Amino acid sequence: MLVSRLWDFDTSNMPDAPLFIPVILGTPRQGRKSENAARLVFERTSARAGVETELIDVRDIPLRLDDAGEQIKDPKFSATVQRCDGLILVVPEYNHGYPGLLKHALDTNLEEYIHKAVGVCGVSAGPIGGARVIENLLPVLRELGLVTIFNDVNFSHIRDVFDDNGKLLDETVIGRIDKLLNELIWMARVLRHGRNSIPPV
Ligand SMILES: Cc1cc2nc3c(=O)[nH]c(=O)nc-3n(C[C@H](O)[C@H](O)[C@H](O)COP(=O)(O)O)c2cc1C
Repeated sequence: MLVSRLWDFDTSNMPDAPLFIPVILGTPRQGRKSENAARLVFERTSARAGVETELIDVRDIPLRLDDAGEQIKDPKFSATVQRCDGLILVVPEYNHGYPGLLKHALDTNLEEYIHKAVGVCGVSAGPIGGARVIENLLPVLRELGLVTIFNDVNFSHIRDVFDDNGKLLDETVIGRIDKLLNELIWMARVLRHGRNSIPPV
């Protein structure tokens, strides 16, 4: 039928619809300090006008461990990635790399990521704030079809940034998160415009 009813239209991609930018907490570790960082990033993202977000815990994505890739998609996670305009990953550095479960989860989608923006927040106990995990993750994100931005957040000495109850001790991280959000939101807008208006060559 050529005539659609008004309520049939998907309004999520309309130019003025809010951007959807979920935050992914990328480690399942018991006692993870990255959770505090992810909650703060989620809070700052939620505070942005014109942006909807959601905090996705990699622990909560039900995935088989005896297979890999798109054949083990979790429908809910895939639908969230399909709907999103961008992603923020909050990722601790484990032996200079990323947590295996995060990679396992990311690998379950492909088309869903294409021409969407991504920003990364690295977390480490040491002084360089997960810089190595960010560098190692960038080629993976590019291969998935995501568009990386040039601002990261480095949560260095994470035990000094939040106390044991998750209270923020070092407010300087807020400015860095906001800077990442400025760039990510701009890139997400640009890419939405491109997806909606510029046909692939
Ligand atoms: C398996 C493992 C490997 C780690 N490797 C590194 C590392 O390479 N560099 C680093 O700065 N911290 C490393 N850490 C410490 C983490 O940076 C620290 O646990 C920090 O709190 C962030 O991770 P979390 O969210 O799991 O707490 C490692 C921790 C674990 C559990």
